Amino acid sequence: MYEKGLPKNALFQKIKTRLQQDSTYRSGRILGSMCTEPHSFAKQVYMQFLEKNLGDPYLFPATAELEREVIQMFGSLLSNPNAYGYIVSGGTEANILALWTARNLAKRKKHEVILSVSSHFSFDKAADLLGLKLIKIELNNRFQVDIKAVEETITSNTVAIVGNAGTTDLGVVDPIPELSKIALANDIYLHIDAAFGGFVLPFLKNLGLPAPAFDFRFPGVHSITIDPHKMGLAPIPAGGILFRDTSIVEPIGMKVSYLAGGEANLATLVGTRSGASSIAVWALLMHLGRAGYAAVVKRCMKLTWTLAEGVRQIDGVSLVTQPTINIVGIKSDGLDVQLIARELRKKGWAISLFPHHIRIVAMPHTKLSHVKAFLDDLREITKKLG
Ligand SMILES: Cc1ncc(COP(=O)(O)O)c(C=O)c1O
Repeated sequence: MYEKGLPKNALFQKIKTRLQQDSTYRSGRILGSMCTEPHSFAKQVYMQFLEKNLGDPYLFPATAELEREVIQMFGSLLSNPNAYGYIVSGGTEANILALWTARNLAKRKKHEVILSVSSHFSFDKAADLLGLKLIKIELNNRFQVDIKAVEETITSNTVAIVGNAGTTDLGVVDPIPELSKIALANDIYLHIDAAFGGFVLPFLKNLGLPAPAFDFRFPGVHSITIDPHKMGLAPIPAGGILFRDTSIVEPIGMKVSYLAGGEANLATLVGTRSGASSIAVWALLMHLGRAGYAAVVKRCMKLTWTLAEGVRQIDGVSLVTQPTINIVGIKSDGLDVQLIARELRKKGWAISLFPHHIRIVAMPHTKLSHVKAFLDDLREITKKLG
């Protein structure tokens, strides 16, 4: 820190220069992120309400009311308008909250969580923090959790099952109806991670596309993660956690008496938290409506199919599986996929690399010209390496 501060203009200039190395969504080179340029209206709204703190909800009761309305809107999208929940910092916090709730509902007497090997690493963090043990189940030939193995793994020590609705690596949806039946039959907490898929799957049906069902319509589902800062176009931070009803979350609620707005019962991981996030998400849901989000998803799905078709036509690479949502996995039988990824990165493509495939996410910031340019480079690279 300098002894005497610098003028604002000079600092803005400095910041712009310093940040030039950062990637931008606008460049179209980011093809491996689940986040995107936030919607301009959401940015406008967000910037106006930075002082709102939902860690002190009775100081900002009107903001808290907007958050409740957001949760109700998500609830209706996910077949349960009575859902209870919060806008949190992201999918990681949402998944931690779900497992924390499950552990405390079981009175800390059970410690094993069953989930697939393709579940997000936030569950590893949650398990470490909460003293839980993850039992990771292999996938079936459709890259979903193997249901039979889930059933066989349940013991009297099983505290929760996690199902994915849009895996991080391939966008696959686990057989949620079956997981729900298993959870109900064994009286086990079932959490669904729809951090990414939650803003895609409900709109596929609107578009007449096949959409695996995953939400609260299945009675075994206790909670769902759905993140506005991924396909919801909201500014970061905005994750979402929904519980079937208020009673589920009681075991992690804490009464806080010292707050300026008056005593509150809080069941989030963090204390002070952004009210602007909730207000921006509320504004965006009201502005875009279902039709607006369906249009965003339609555009992304069209790009996904163009990408998938393009990959099919390039010698040396192929699709890991037919995309369910706007995530495409590219593998190679003859070539080293790590090498292909390295060459793509040299050409400036910010793609995701998994052990056996490259992941492309066709996000709202992606344009057809970006997809075509990517396919041209992929073709050239596979030719060179082949
Ligand atoms: C399926 C899934 N769950 C959870 C998360 C974690 O979300 P966040 O990065 O917002 O904490 C991700 C992130 O990519 C994800 O893909």
